[in-house]
Amino acid sequence: MTDDAPLLRVAAQASAVALLSIALYRLFLAPLARIPGPALSALTRLPLILREFTGRRSAWIHNLHVKYGPVVRVAPNEVSFATREAAKEIYTSGGSGYDKTSFYKLFEHFDTPNIFSTLDRGTHADVKKRFAERYNKTHIVRPEVTAVVQEHVDAFVDKCAENAGHSIDIYLLLHCFALNGITRHMFHPHGLHSLTDPRDFAMMEELTYPMLLKEQYFRYYFPSLARFLGKTIGFGKLRTDGLSSVRYVLDTVRSAPVSLHTLLEKLRLYEAHDADLKLAASECMDHLVAGLDTTGDALCFLMYHISLPASQPLQDRLRAELRSNPAAALDDLPYLDALVKEGLRVFCPVPMALPHLVPAGGSTVDGVALPGGTIVSCQPYTLHRLDTRVFPDPDAFVPDRWLDAEGAAERNGLFFAFAAGGRGCIGKDFALFEMKLLLRDVYSAYRTRVTPDMTASMEMDDQVVSARPKGQKCLLVFEKL
Ligand code: HEM
Repeated sequence: MTDDAPLLRVAAQASAVALLSIALYRLFLAPLARIPGPALSALTRLPLILREFTGRRSAWIHNLHVKYGPVVRVAPNEVSFATREAAKEIYTSGGSGYDKTSFYKLFEHFDTPNIFSTLDRGTHADVKKRFAERYNKTHIVRPEVTAVVQEHVDAFVDKCAENAGHSIDIYLLLHCFALNGITRHMFHPHGLHSLTDPRDFAMMEELTYPMLLKEQYFRYYFPSLARFLGKTIGFGKLRTDGLSSVRYVLDTVRSAPVSLHTLLEKLRLYEAHDADLKLAASECMDHLVAGLDTTGDALCFLMYHISLPASQPLQDRLRAELRSNPAAALDDLPYLDALVKEGLRVFCPVPMALPHLVPAGGSTVDGVALPGGTIVSCQPYTLHRLDTRVFPDPDAFVPDRWLDAEGAAERNGLFFAFAAGGRGCIGKDFALFEMKLLLRDVYSAYRTRVTPDMTASMEMDDQVVSARPKGQKCLLVFEKL
């Protein structure tokens, strides 16, 4: 025994008492103590972190809601809600809802903020004002914009024609389609042609296939260590410097002449405040990422589902609508609309919690009083399923539910694929336009079937905010009709 032994014993006892006090406080006295949830989650964030690092966050939280109801404490200072009232308060109160948490800093590019990574709503509103018009429906339907989208839908249909009768991987083709679409919207005539150009195709691959989940969460939970490792051993370097898509965005933003209707043309109007165009580059990189997997995966999940043997009648019904209304505007095709909406409900590409912060001074969310600084969120996956009076048989794919006038307000109130409010998806109208145009042109002329050699998993696999098909492969055959 050394002389230090009594001192160490006292220190150990003091630590034990401190830990016990924190545990008792979190379990019984903290303002969140009355909120239902697993006792372990009230004590520590570790159960949630475990699910985040293993890509199971949204399924775990959904199961907690099924067990505990629409309000669940998922960590000592984090609460998940699953009601329309909560979604309205968190995401739309005052227009843009509560400020985002620092989680969104992960989405900065070139160490420069953009619309998605901006946390406070005042700054966000200023950023959004600069270019929101480029995503308004009135802009999307301008002939010069629709012509560009139609051109890249035609390129996709040409690819189907070339491969008709053979098994093709639509996961890959649809990611090319989405990448071509968003880069053309930003940079026309310098958008990508990844369906036909091998160099552009390589860019699609480097953006679509890497496994960044663990790295991203590591950067979130250990930002200083991640920065240190970045400087010393190049941790995270592949995500930025190594990518040819990063070079492409920087070069295009800085020097390519672009059409008047593009996003970049609008962003360059702010050049005086953005001398080296880093703000514009960060913005474009963000939109490129935001518009790639979302649109690509949404179409992939949907086309896979309607290509299953049991879904062939859904295709027949869609085809009948398209063929009997060949000149109809896309928004005047109710079955197409219902099919797309049901796809986005069941297989929403952003199924996960969108974390925001209760403002200083506290607030009440759906009747639950919360202290300032509490992390609150709703996850679209659960909003689309939990209330079975609104969505009976919630896992079943039933486009008809959207055609029933009764209950439409409740269903639309819980539909959260694009989130809602001032921070909801800015690309929603663009994405819906692209998706509907592609489905119209494909299903007017082709029947699609899942091929017998399709063994890859189509299970939804969580990434950091989005989810993708686990197998990252989807083999279909296109039959010309
Ligand atoms: C089916 C396709 C899409 C889905 C389901 C989708 C979904 C979403 C969701 C749920 C959010 C909110 C995320 C959050 O708050 O954490 C969001 C934000 C955003 N989306 Fe989309 N998105 C899609 C396509 C696109 C496209 C094509 C673009 C093209 C630019 C885009 C650009 C953005 C941007 C810039 C934001 C951030 C908006 C802001 O913070 O104000 N999205 N999207």
